[in-house]
Amino acid sequence: MPHGRVLIVDADPLFVRTAREALGVAGYETIAESDALCGMEQVAASQPGVIVCNAHPPGIEGFELLRELRANYPEVPVVLVADEGSIELALRAIQQEGAFHFFEKPVEPRSLIEVVNRAFQSADGADDELEDGMRPAGDGETPFAFGKLIGSSEPMRRVYSLVDQVATSSASVLITGESGTGKEMVARTIHQLSPRRRAQFVAINCSAIPETLMESELFGHERGAFTGAATRRQGCFELAHGGTLLLDEIAEMPAFLQAKLLRVLEERTVRRLGGAHETPVDVRVLAATNRDPHDAVRAGVFREDLLYRLNVITIELPPLRLRKDDLPLLAQHMIKRLSARHERPARRISAAALDVLNIHHWPGNVRELRNVIERAVIICSGESIERHHVAPYPLDQRARARSEDTITLPVGTPLEEVERQMLLRTLHKTDNNKTRAAALLQISLKTLHNKLRSYRERGLLDELQGSHFSTSSAAASSGKARE
Ligand SMILES: Nc1ncnc2c1ncn2[C@@H]1O[C@H](COP(=O)(O)OP(=O)(O)OP(=O)(O)O)[C@@H](O)[C@H]1O
Ligand SMILES: [Mg+2]
Repeated sequence: MPHGRVLIVDADPLFVRTAREALGVAGYETIAESDALCGMEQVAASQPGVIVCNAHPPGIEGFELLRELRANYPEVPVVLVADEGSIELALRAIQQEGAFHFFEKPVEPRSLIEVVNRAFQSADGADDELEDGMRPAGDGETPFAFGKLIGSSEPMRRVYSLVDQVATSSASVLITGESGTGKEMVARTIHQLSPRRRAQFVAINCSAIPETLMESELFGHERGAFTGAATRRQGCFELAHGGTLLLDEIAEMPAFLQAKLLRVLEERTVRRLGGAHETPVDVRVLAATNRDPHDAVRAGVFREDLLYRLNVITIELPPLRLRKDDLPLLAQHMIKRLSARHERPARRISAAALDVLNIHHWPGNVRELRNVIERAVIICSGESIERHHVAPYPLDQRARARSEDTITLPVGTPLEEVERQMLLRTLHKTDNNKTRAAALLQISLKTLHNKLRSYRERGLLDELQGSHFSTSSAAASSGKARE
């Protein structure tokens, strides 16, 4: 009865034979490949639970195979075996490159079995952690979700675990993150998971309400408190009594109100405009901002004492471009919801269409993704969303905005040069992920590697890559600008 499947990538037949025998006796199914490219293809084909591979297999440089594996299959532990090792190399492999373990040959069969056992356990353990910390989404069909929040990437798991920890208390939480990253959703989730869930969740957007009205929105007013105050009115604090109040875009709140808010948070009572007495309120306050709160303090628009009062706990939502692992889950979830809403036939998204989503920078984060999917669902007449349903969006808009996404070449450029530029640009765009770049270019990984090797040999690589990396950092910072 096999425990699981192990892929071995090594060109040394003696090692491969010993390893297969040992792991076979221990109950594992083994597959072996002698070079890196076949190894990569085998991972996709046979989905091993653990990979044992040579640190420098033929056909690839340095730790490149390990890097590719970590980038494309982060959940599969990789055990490295080196023909010659050193402590420095082992440390680098494990700490910087994410290898599970580093062996120097000859490898003792018993140690190999032990390490592979542990590697399998670690992969299982990661799943357990996920189950424990997470509650299933409402429909039970979305395994990687927390309440209504979708995503299984590392950064989102950290968010879930923070939300879980803070939900039961009444502490203030400051939620930060770029526009469209899900700050309001996180606030609602905290409320839903808290003992306050039966009372109101009230949200007020401090940047959308005119200054003159905001005070009465927050604290309420008595009849006749100001012109137009025909009746007495409760403010957000009173409405949220027993529940949760989200102060959205808190850094945009006028200074005089920040001072009043601070007093309310400290005294836990509010006085309506034109009112004579204080009303006690039991409200949990959450605040959100898409600015860096410390920058806002430095800029003099956000009171430092209010910041410290509010950010007892800070939850920082990662931008979508730093959690692209979540794209398939998010897209699938949105397709389901939106095709039901619009009564459309779309049920899934093709790999090619996902690739298009993957190279986009997502300045508008999850909200922007939702808009792209909604448009695709509406224009798609079949069950599968294809490349052309999503491509026009990023390509049209982004190509104009960021020249990095297009290549302009004079008519008559040799085709080989056109190919070289396209290849290097695509690699740059995919953060040097060769598997992804090959998929986008619709060539095999092997072809991509061969072309790169030939550029390298002819000295056509370094100079170009250098210049690309400099555009890369400029693009990364300009990409942060909101649209
Ligand atoms: N993790 C997620 N899973 C599912 N949907 C999400 C997730 N994060 C955000 N969304 C969706 O993205 C959209 C934007 O989310 P939300 O309004 O919470 O963002 P925000 O950070 O408050 O944005 P802003 O700063 O512009 O106010 C909503 O439609 C929300 O449903
Ligand atoms: Mg919001």
